[in-house]
Amino acid sequence: MSDKATLTYKGKTYELPVVIGTENEIGIDISNLRSASGLITLDDSYSNTGSCLSAITYIDGEAGVLRYRGYPIEQLAERSTFVETAYLLIFGELPSAQALREFRNLLSTHEFIHEDMRHNFEGFPPNAHPMAILSAMINAMGCYQPALLQPEDDNNFADAAARLMSKVRTIAAAAYKKSIGQPMIYPRPELQYVPNFLHMMFSMPNRPYEPVREVVDALRQILILHADHEQNCSTSTVRMVGSSQANLYASVASGVCALWGPLHGGANQAVIQMLLQIQASGEPVETFIAKVKDKSSKIRLMGFGHRVYKNYDPRARIIKESCDKLLAKLGISDPLLDIALKLEEVALKDEYFVSRKLYPNVDFYSGIIMRAIGIPLPMFPVMFAIGRMPGWIAHWREQHLRPDARIHRPRQIYIGPAKRDYVPLDQRS
Ligand code: SDX
Repeated sequence: MSDKATLTYKGKTYELPVVIGTENEIGIDISNLRSASGLITLDDSYSNTGSCLSAITYIDGEAGVLRYRGYPIEQLAERSTFVETAYLLIFGELPSAQALREFRNLLSTHEFIHEDMRHNFEGFPPNAHPMAILSAMINAMGCYQPALLQPEDDNNFADAAARLMSKVRTIAAAAYKKSIGQPMIYPRPELQYVPNFLHMMFSMPNRPYEPVREVVDALRQILILHADHEQNCSTSTVRMVGSSQANLYASVASGVCALWGPLHGGANQAVIQMLLQIQASGEPVETFIAKVKDKSSKIRLMGFGHRVYKNYDPRARIIKESCDKLLAKLGISDPLLDIALKLEEVALKDEYFVSRKLYPNVDFYSGIIMRAIGIPLPMFPVMFAIGRMPGWIAHWREQHLRPDARIHRPRQIYIGPAKRDYVPLDQRS
């Protein structure tokens, strides 16, 4: 469906096509604006700019709706597995039993990293942040599969995607084991995706780790809820890098770096650090909230607010419920959860947050679950990256398959010095 918009500037009127999406989102297509008018648009941080047409994920930020390939996140979180959801995001449809078996087998086939890669970990200091290791190792992985770096056909692609999804667990767990001086634990092909990751994280050569069902289920949901979120900062980065026809590994490795920032995937780690600070201060949460509202403090309520959601993040709602279930099952009473619940209660009654439509986002409660499972704080963004892997892969492929794909190269408005001549060194002050 299309429509028209008009733009008038200095007495001239330009007609611009309008694109209307499946859910009636409306975009003014300015692809030919500069060639027709010499004008460009300016949209700092892209709040009002659509970068592409995409069929992968739909978000209604005002209503708090999230769907992967049309399926509501609530249904997938309740009934799907992370591998099935990954297949849906990457290939566009829920898999048949046969297709799911084949995809699972591909993941099992590719769960080991090349034995030589073990030495790469020795090049990092013990306190290296695992996101730095993850990004480096994803590119290193690609070096062992040169044929996959040019995935010209879907068979290559499915293999490359499965390797990324499968080995990202092995790399993450190995980074954790190195950080605590324990031996790397090899994957076990008989285990499914989540139990296998937990095994690599928490087993010892002399003592296998057997997770309780509720732990596996909580982590299954965490990964599904993080699997995609349309054009967020890290996914846009993967698309930007992929637009130069950089390979899948290089594109995803750049997505890991973008995700690391505390305003994005690093927020789950920043939330726990914030809660620990409040706990250590002994101050009531109202005192912290007052600091957040005082702009001069530059303190933010981490895990709150969202560029798109101006309502409760549907993922946060599910994670909060999962928190309660898991902590009850494990018999854990985490004082940080009590602080988080109190922060939410106070903030959602405070005009500062209400007027700015600041609600808990996916990162506000996810760290409580990861703490309960025993995942260490620096690994929290890595868990986000493991979850987001299928989304990054799906978006890279969606762009890669476009016959008319072009390199992303935004314009700018120059505000620097006007033309001036070179001044020889001996004439400068
Ligand atoms: C993720 O994009 C995605 O989809 C991301 C993600 C995904 O799945 O990929 O959903 C994952 O990154 C979730 C967000 C995690 N980040 C945090 O929790 C960090 C804390 N949140 C904020 O820094 C902020 O809310 C952002 C970064 C999430 C969104 O920032 P925006 O859209 O640029 O909003 P803004 O900074 O322009 O804020 C608007 C106003 C400002 O106040 P005023 O200038 O109007 O007075 O709201 C205030 C901000 O100061 N504000 C906050 C706040 N977030 C916004 N004030 C206090 N605490 C906060 N958390």
